[in-house]
Amino acid sequence: MGSKLRCTVVLFLVLGLLTSHRTSAEKVLMFPTPGFYSHWLVLAEIGQALVDRGHTVTVVLPQDLVDARRAERSGFWFETFQDHGTGARIKELIDYNVAMAGQASTSIFHTLEAGINMTGTMTRHCDLLLRDSTLVGRLRAAQYSVVLTEPIFPCGALMAAHVDAKLPNVAVLRYDVYFQDVKATGVPHPLSYVTSVETDLTDQMTFLQRFQNVGFYSLVHVAASVYDGVAREYLGEGVTTQSVMSRTTLWLYQTDPVLDFPRPTMPNMVHVGGLNVREAAPLPKDLEAFMQSSGQHGVVIVSFGTIVKTMESEQIEVFTAAFARLRQKVVWRYTGEKPAGLGNNTKLMAWLPQNDLLGHPKTRVFITHAGYNGVCETLHHGVPMVCLPQFGDHPGNTAQVVARGLGVKLDINRVTSDELYQAILYVLTNNSYRDTAAHLSCLHRDQPQSPMERAVWWIEHVIKHGGLPHLRARAVELPWYQYYLLDVAAFLLAVCAAVLGAVWYSCSFICRKCCCKRENKIKSQ
Ligand SMILES: *[C@@H]1O[C@H](CO)[C@@H](O)[C@H](O)[C@H]1NC(C)=O
Ligand SMILES: *[C@@H]1O[C@H](CO)[C@@H](O)[C@H](O)[C@H]1NC(C)=O
Ligand SMILES: *[C@@H]1O[C@H](CO)[C@@H](O)[C@H](O)[C@H]1NC(C)=O
Repeated sequence: MGSKLRCTVVLFLVLGLLTSHRTSAEKVLMFPTPGFYSHWLVLAEIGQALVDRGHTVTVVLPQDLVDARRAERSGFWFETFQDHGTGARIKELIDYNVAMAGQASTSIFHTLEAGINMTGTMTRHCDLLLRDSTLVGRLRAAQYSVVLTEPIFPCGALMAAHVDAKLPNVAVLRYDVYFQDVKATGVPHPLSYVTSVETDLTDQMTFLQRFQNVGFYSLVHVAASVYDGVAREYLGEGVTTQSVMSRTTLWLYQTDPVLDFPRPTMPNMVHVGGLNVREAAPLPKDLEAFMQSSGQHGVVIVSFGTIVKTMESEQIEVFTAAFARLRQKVVWRYTGEKPAGLGNNTKLMAWLPQNDLLGHPKTRVFITHAGYNGVCETLHHGVPMVCLPQFGDHPGNTAQVVARGLGVKLDINRVTSDELYQAILYVLTNNSYRDTAAHLSCLHRDQPQSPMERAVWWIEHVIKHGGLPHLRARAVELPWYQYYLLDVAAFLLAVCAAVLGAVWYSCSFICRKCCCKRENKIKSQ
């Protein structure tokens, strides 16, 4: 009996060794951005993949959000802080901005005021997070191996630095709103062809557009310092958000070279666009029956994302009338009262199994606000798009979709019912969109590993090896005159000047000598 027990123990030990030859269970900390549900979806998907690999994932959230999130993700651990309603206020401001973005009359001052209100509330939120000393104590005691943060919510990185300055930070982002990644990584950022996805500029710009690009970059760069007060208060004099961001170990970009325009990157910047894409699962029976009832004409899918709930009634009329004219069936993600004049071809649903619908063989076109998660799913399944961008990265995503020939763009504030109908018809009937979508889908699928596998591999790589200092380009430390080689240029200029001077001096010396001799000769003759 004793030897049998020993055998079992040895067997378990051997099995344990065999299965734990990869990274052992590690503790991962995450700070989601308040107010943006689509950001949470991405972070939660990464967290879930890490949990599936045996790690423990702890999410830091405001107290009033934790029950909802726990119901969604039972595999995570949660740490909370009291945010005195600032998180909810941030969500309100986002919703308000979205509603305003959908109105043609919104002035630039209004947008600015909303921006100032937003940063004000976010700063208070940050302050409440970093001030919670018992939370800081608990997080310090837990000894995490890595933290995942989003640069759009700088408080995550600030809090992580406050908890443990040596904790490796992995930034997950679509783009850095404040361009702090540029300085942090030292990546070249030529404004002649590298644009922000917050603008609708592409990599091919006229003089005026390049001027606009330079202006946008400079303005936003200045705005980056709004959270420096919090950084100074908790992390010490001289610490800025930029200096904290510059310690980031790894940047996981939700970008994909199939759509995003080519641009320089550094070895610690990794493309993981399409984290959320999956193969389509079968649809519920009634929805499948609806899809099949479309016959040869197929189905148009319509969704304006997780944030957009409030649409002007005139806009709803425009959409309803255009959809009613289509020969296709329409599935529309829509909450609210059933609009008047709704066509009998249109099915309203409060929530869509969007990925499964986009992967369905009957799906012909996706009508969307061009949020990145939806764009990735559409790219993956090879469906053409009609984009009506609203805010954030929607204009840039749309510019990429149009430039790659994957779809067309409409202005949500001005589009008429007939324009919308014609645009949908154009994308449906012009085969170039369908063919391009199929081609780009093939390109996107042809990768050595899925974007999620890549993200998880890199996060575990950081856990195993710490800060990855060997991936940091020296560019980060160089003074500007060395980076632009101004010292070398100055030296070369000096050498050129010296050589030219010497030549000039010798020539004039020789000339004078010759002239003197000739004069002497003339005199002596
Ligand atoms: C900004 O905040 C002020 C004061 O709280 C408020 O009166 C104003 O309506 C807000 N503006 C926007 C655009 O949210
Ligand atoms: C749907 O409406 C169209 C005209 O709007 C009509 O021709 C058609 O018969 C209707 N179909 C059904 C199933 O009611
Ligand atoms: C189809 O769309 C492509 C790309 O926008 C365009 O170049 C082409 O002229 C269109 N063809 C027709 C027949 O409209």
